[in-house]
Amino acid sequence: MSAASRTDERNKLVGMAMGDIRAAMDGGPSMENLAVGKAALIKLAMHKDLFSFEDFPLPNDDAMECSYLIHEDDDGEYALYINSGAPHQYYAPHDHGTAWAIIAGVQGRERHKLYLRRGPDDPGEGPIRKMGEVIVASGEAATMQPDGIHEVNAMDGKPLLHLHLYARNFIAQGERWKFDVEKGTAEPFYLDELGSITDAR
Ligand SMILES: [Fe+2]
Repeated sequence: MSAASRTDERNKLVGMAMGDIRAAMDGGPSMENLAVGKAALIKLAMHKDLFSFEDFPLPNDDAMECSYLIHEDDDGEYALYINSGAPHQYYAPHDHGTAWAIIAGVQGRERHKLYLRRGPDDPGEGPIRKMGEVIVASGEAATMQPDGIHEVNAMDGKPLLHLHLYARNFIAQGERWKFDVEKGTAEPFYLDELGSITDAR
């Protein structure tokens, strides 16, 4: 299949998946709706021929990853990126503004440690509490509700190619926070700390 045909086929399947996901998530970011969205994104991610390093290359410098935007609605919502991550990809715990997220694996394994901010009635060290861990790989996905925080790293010394869907695009996610568990600090997380973002629609 030529690159142009792959783009057409990918856009068609992405459009169908987004229709299914939008139908669920327009009802709100409940765990039940996220589970429906997760199943639809995993199904899309199984089309490995359409999501490859050939079409979505890894960084050619020492950057941690390249992001490729492959869909967003006209209002910037339902933003779907392909992230091609180097083996040393690591992001400290961070939120996505108040955007829910679904991350489905295509190639490679990525550990997601999941956290929530501590509330006034949640005493303990530091600003966040670890809630669990998910490994995103082919056939698997992680989900985050709007208050979700995750810490991610590539596993096995191998590169990653995963689908990242957010309630809205990175720019519209606005103020984001990152956390240092050992120091117990929270500070703003700026967009320019991400690798390159290419519009690949
Ligand atoms: Fe993230």
